[in-house]
Amino acid sequence: ARKIIIDTDPGQDDAVAILLALASAEVEVLGLTAVAGNVPLELTAKNARIVAELAGRPDVPVFAGCDRPMKQPLVTAEHVHGKTGLDGPAMDEPQMPLQDKDAVDFIIDTLRDEPAGSVTLCPMGPLTNIATAFMRAPDIVERVQEIILMGGAYFEVGNITPAAEFNIYVDPEAAEIVFKCGRPIVVMPLDVTHKALTTAPRVQAFRDLGTRPGTMVAEWTDFFERFDKEKYGSAGAPLHDPCVIAYLIRPDLFHGRHINVEIEVTSPLTRGMTVADWWGVTDREKNALFIGDLDADGFFELLTERIGRL
Ligand code: BDR
Ligand code: CA
Repeated sequence: ARKIIIDTDPGQDDAVAILLALASAEVEVLGLTAVAGNVPLELTAKNARIVAELAGRPDVPVFAGCDRPMKQPLVTAEHVHGKTGLDGPAMDEPQMPLQDKDAVDFIIDTLRDEPAGSVTLCPMGPLTNIATAFMRAPDIVERVQEIILMGGAYFEVGNITPAAEFNIYVDPEAAEIVFKCGRPIVVMPLDVTHKALTTAPRVQAFRDLGTRPGTMVAEWTDFFERFDKEKYGSAGAPLHDPCVIAYLIRPDLFHGRHINVEIEVTSPLTRGMTVADWWGVTDREKNALFIGDLDADGFFELLTERIGRL
């Protein structure tokens, strides 16, 4: 199994991604590292534990990391995810403990302890924890196997400003560090996640599982999709973050291009934009596999089948 660290700010779509990972034997989740993003850190750290328990996996350690971006105040997204970050179904307080260790230290120690090239990072929120780890312990960077992240946009452009996607916008300096790190990066931008839509029959399939995780996924989706339906007239919610885990299990469901991607950090108008050289009009070094398309039916079949295993 591929060893992964999921860096996350749950978030209903983060929650579905975590469930998919914990249901799949192809990946071994070494830990969940919470970061401030959709909601403040205290809530993302709590939500990560709620989701681990829902999957029946209180043994998966959960760590809290950075409570704010590297250089600017935190921007949150309660307008999408609700006050708790996981609005929708009623939820109990988690029983499992939060680890004492800081998430950044966990990332550093794990990359040093595990064989070089054997740990993949899966960021699904602002890149603050990952970039902070890279700055604090530059020796770990070359030990990373791969980084598969949700963030950015090209043709679909922004969901938090006209130019920027939320995860990158919240901490552009962190994103710049990660995109320049030199390790293989796979990017799931809005271009692909806006094709992974929770249409009514797909949500019904989760509900029809008749299990608690299936019902929770359906109810989270019911809440989460209202934003995209109103804002984009879309047929359902984009399941952004599960694309990261699905790619690890079934890369054949995704298509993209190996291109140069740079992060805009200076312009007030376009700060946090992922400037993606999709057409190869520069000779800047290719640093990312930028995904543009997926087999949405295959993706939802995989998700439903795996959530059904929990
Ligand atoms: C990203 O922002 C968050 O709201 C979602 O969880 C996802 O990671 C989409 O822009
Ligand atoms: Ca997220």
